[in-house]
Amino acid sequence: MRLLDALAGQNRGRPPVWLMRQAGRYLPEYRALRKQWSLRELFFTPELAAEVTLLPIDLLGVDAAILFSDITTVALALGLKLDFREGPVVTPLVTPAMVDSLPLVPVEEALAPVGETIRMLRASLKVPLIGFCGAPFTVATYLVENYKEWPKEAFHKLLDKLAAVTEASIRFQIQSGAQAIQIFDSWANLLSREEFLEFSLPYIQRLVSASSVPTIVFMREGALYLDEWSAIPSVALSLDEHTPLPEVRRRVGLKRVLQGNLSTELLYQPIPVIRAEVRRLLDSMHGDPSFILNLGHGLKPDMPVESVKALVAEALVEFEK
Ligand code: CP3
Repeated sequence: MRLLDALAGQNRGRPPVWLMRQAGRYLPEYRALRKQWSLRELFFTPELAAEVTLLPIDLLGVDAAILFSDITTVALALGLKLDFREGPVVTPLVTPAMVDSLPLVPVEEALAPVGETIRMLRASLKVPLIGFCGAPFTVATYLVENYKEWPKEAFHKLLDKLAAVTEASIRFQIQSGAQAIQIFDSWANLLSREEFLEFSLPYIQRLVSASSVPTIVFMREGALYLDEWSAIPSVALSLDEHTPLPEVRRRVGLKRVLQGNLSTELLYQPIPVIRAEVRRLLDSMHGDPSFILNLGHGLKPDMPVESVKALVAEALVEFEK
């Protein structure tokens, strides 16, 4: 399968394409389901979560599915409650005094419906299924009031517990059938270099070690750390639009799998501009065996579905023989 070939550095045809947040509110079919069900019901009812995961496969024809779930669900494995309003709401918020007493609930219990969703999906999918998790730092930002006010030692304890349940979640998703894992460190770009090296990279390293399938890490501004990523040679990098990928490729060599990096703003442009920009990126990476086409960040609710379809259609054009 094309995505797994590219993740193995052995893709010989056109690059695989999938889009972050490909199952979401920009799709009328998704909005219709959301009128009927709460977000929690969608995430934790296997039939519904599987149905949402499949929407972009059927409607766009992308080369990979990403499990419909959320990075904040691991909060349940720390004995916390999770609700969704404008965004995820964790209760109670964790304080430094609480960290030691947070339980570690087995993920097979706390996230049982996620395992069931993955098994259902694998029975029907013809493209690979990507499981995912948040990097401990990014998930922590949803669990605490303000991490900057935390004593370092207590914050490391929280990150350590989050890493433990996230490792377990990765193993559980893989056992259930996930064929690749993406780690989202969506807020790591807020950290200084020193903070990133202290609070994020070591924990990402732990998650990658826990994964027995190809693993991708997404970070905005991730190209700032190309030398540091060499500490995790096996991880694929999902990069934003700020650094041209051919330049990254020259710096990291062919062994590093690269994913990205169309600007999400492109989706507000006229369709001919979208097609031309997809073509330009594909031409610039032509023949690259370890490249996956994606966006620099996720799709947004107000993006025109016709534009998303045009982007994918252009990416699906086969090479001329
Ligand atoms: O299609 C996919 O990409 C798979 C599903 C997915 C969701 N969340 C579903 C979701 C994935 C991969 C995520 C990851 C996630 N969740 C991240 C990392 C990716 C990123 O965008 O940086 C983060 C930071 C979260 C936390 C989160 N969940 C926020 C901030 C929000 C509210 C803001 C928003 O984007 O709507 C959510 C809710 C959420 N998770 C929605 C979806 C589709 C919104 C759905 C709705 O309101 O109907």
